[in-house]
Amino acid sequence: MSRKIWVFDTTLRDGEQVPGAKLNIYEKLEVAQQLKKLQVDIIEAGFPASSEGDFQAVKQIAQQVGGSTNMMITALARAVKSDIDAVYNAVKYAENPMIHMVLGTSDIHVEKKFSKSKDQILQIGVDAVKYAKSLMPQVQYSTEDASRSDFEYLWKTIEAVIDAGATMINVPDTVGWAVPEQFGDMIYKLNNRIKNVNPDVLLSVHCHNDLGMATANTLQAVKNGADKVECTVNGIGERAGNAALEEVVMALSTRGDYFDAFTSINKKEIINTSKIVSSLMGLDVQVNKAITGDNAFAHSSGIHQDGLLKSRDAYEIIHPTEVGLDDMELILTARSGRHAVRNAINNLSIDITDEQFEGVFADFLELADAKKEVYDHDLFILVEDYLRRHDKIANFEKHADAFYVLEDIQVISNPIFPSATIKVSKGTETFRASTVGTGPIDALYTALKEVIDVDMNIMEYKISSVTRGKEALGKVKIQVQSHDKTYIAKATHTDVIRASAEAYINAANSIIVEQFVPTEV
Ligand code: KIV
Ligand code: ZN
Repeated sequence: MSRKIWVFDTTLRDGEQVPGAKLNIYEKLEVAQQLKKLQVDIIEAGFPASSEGDFQAVKQIAQQVGGSTNMMITALARAVKSDIDAVYNAVKYAENPMIHMVLGTSDIHVEKKFSKSKDQILQIGVDAVKYAKSLMPQVQYSTEDASRSDFEYLWKTIEAVIDAGATMINVPDTVGWAVPEQFGDMIYKLNNRIKNVNPDVLLSVHCHNDLGMATANTLQAVKNGADKVECTVNGIGERAGNAALEEVVMALSTRGDYFDAFTSINKKEIINTSKIVSSLMGLDVQVNKAITGDNAFAHSSGIHQDGLLKSRDAYEIIHPTEVGLDDMELILTARSGRHAVRNAINNLSIDITDEQFEGVFADFLELADAKKEVYDHDLFILVEDYLRRHDKIANFEKHADAFYVLEDIQVISNPIFPSATIKVSKGTETFRASTVGTGPIDALYTALKEVIDVDMNIMEYKISSVTRGKEALGKVKIQVQSHDKTYIAKATHTDVIRASAEAYINAANSIIVEQFVPTEV
């Protein structure tokens, strides 16, 4: 009989460990709401002991997303009392909370990281589980670096923490060392022993992608009895990332004949979730990425197009609509009218109010004038930009005067004196600056730096086209550093100079936003 596989999403914890991908509390809530729409079984919302901001974000997700739902909310703790308390105090508001703790089992971790004996580490783990269990019924124990651990010590640890009350055992391939056959064999043995001890304990895997095998290892684990998979959207995460949720879910669904397993994921939300995560975290999805890359469903060779026209299954194993893409993309123009634009937005499954739609429609007309043809991708970015400009700011309405807004800009590019003149406002104040630079962007950023009173350094500047055609939207992404923290900001516009200015201002505003993130809810 086909088995249900639990999907544990760690985009907001392991995924957020990507340098620069840190989200503010409102962005984390937005991702969590989308993960709920995607119908993941468990959201790992963060690492509360790491900062007050992360603690508050997990707490708000537990309160606002984790109520009246079967979906569990968890967060990570090391096997120490203060971390466990932080997780407990953040997730306890959810209807189904869980404490997740991690402690290494490999010799490298036990001896080199902790300088302790194996027995000492095992005892620390058991005591931590007993403590967590005294706080709430659901406790997951992760045996960090399991794939490089001595098998019998790994088993001894698992047996002891189950005895102490752990309800889920997570076996991580922390450094992406495993290969599918070996990993599958290990999971098979562990699963047999675990189910003999307690058939209700779920066996989970968490695979990293250092050798490009995270998805393969995860699937091999499922084939060998794992009940639960830990994944991230678009495969983001520490170093080379984690197993990609969309790949694991679609492999289980498309090859159900082989795996005999299914998930509860709402597959039609896969593309939207990917876009939201990519956009909020500022992490582009590689174009040929399985399932969520731009080219994943594009057929370019004449032979393939011909074959598809004769029979879709000649070259297509997943119908694009299964993951939430439109089968036939309608191209909008300035003459398309409100109804067609509203319809296209609804088809992208983006919820906006009538009032927001009016604002988006005005932006649409401007874009359609500049670009002539507007595709779904353009529309998605347009709505997102609009919401970011207008609604996110509403979260900080009482502080609206603290944010910078670009009013006007003129940049002249010539080989002798590239120059920029800008007008920026902040509340009722207006600032102007005119500067020359080594090039137009240098002149622009020098002018902005002169008037924007935020201490930040640009580490990276990247410009790319995000949509099709020569009038494509240009995306500018910058990475800035401020007081040892890295921020990624981006902006899109058909005028890339304007996008460059907006990206700078977005970065400054992200740093300012941090002051207003609530410390008490
Ligand atoms: O990679 C890892 O081992 C982890 C654990 C916290 C599960 O992320
Ligand atoms: Zn990890």
